[in-house]
Amino acid sequence: MKEKIEIIQADITTLAVDAIVNAANNTLLGGGGVDGAIHRAAGPELVQECATLGGCETGDAKITSGYRLPARHVIHTVGPVWHGGTKGEPELLRSAYRRCFEVAHENGLKSIAFPAISCGVYGYPMDQGCRIAIEEAKAALASNPELERVIFTPFGAPALALYQQVFKAVFG
Ligand code: AR6
Repeated sequence: MKEKIEIIQADITTLAVDAIVNAANNTLLGGGGVDGAIHRAAGPELVQECATLGGCETGDAKITSGYRLPARHVIHTVGPVWHGGTKGEPELLRSAYRRCFEVAHENGLKSIAFPAISCGVYGYPMDQGCRIAIEEAKAALASNPELERVIFTPFGAPALALYQQVFKAVFG
């Protein structure tokens, strides 16, 4: 199962997968960080479709087309803002990952790529965030044999090292 997980340093907007995940905000109308990069690369049709979705609750996920992206779809999720960890942040981040996998499954998608949801502007500690990401990938792969590839795209060498370390800890 662990061979279905790839950890690579890449700009997520360049990946030709069934879906890339966007670390969005509740409006789904765009923003900075990976959200801005995805909207720039996808073109203006993406925000037009997002505007029809009625926003997204923290911990939920919604799918759109990928437009000019090499990815067929974008799954937009909203992770929690980090307030120190006692405001339900771990449960909300876990829910965000889980909902992305559910939406992918509902749409018959076989490959999905994730940025480090909440670990940028939203301030979630990367070590804790990436553990949740990898644990949820393990659970999704166990429950959905049709899922073929789960890609994580940590940005920068320290983030890459952290993902590799946590991957080893989770899979042994
Ligand atoms: N490919 C992969 N990872 C990226 C890319 C990219 N092209 N660009 C940034 N990252 P952030 P959040 C990494 O801040 O913390 C937006 O304004 C980045 O280094 O994009 O969930 C939304 O509209 C970091 O590790 O998302 C929300 O308002 C990770 O992606 C808010 O930011 C996530 O950082 C969401 O904040």
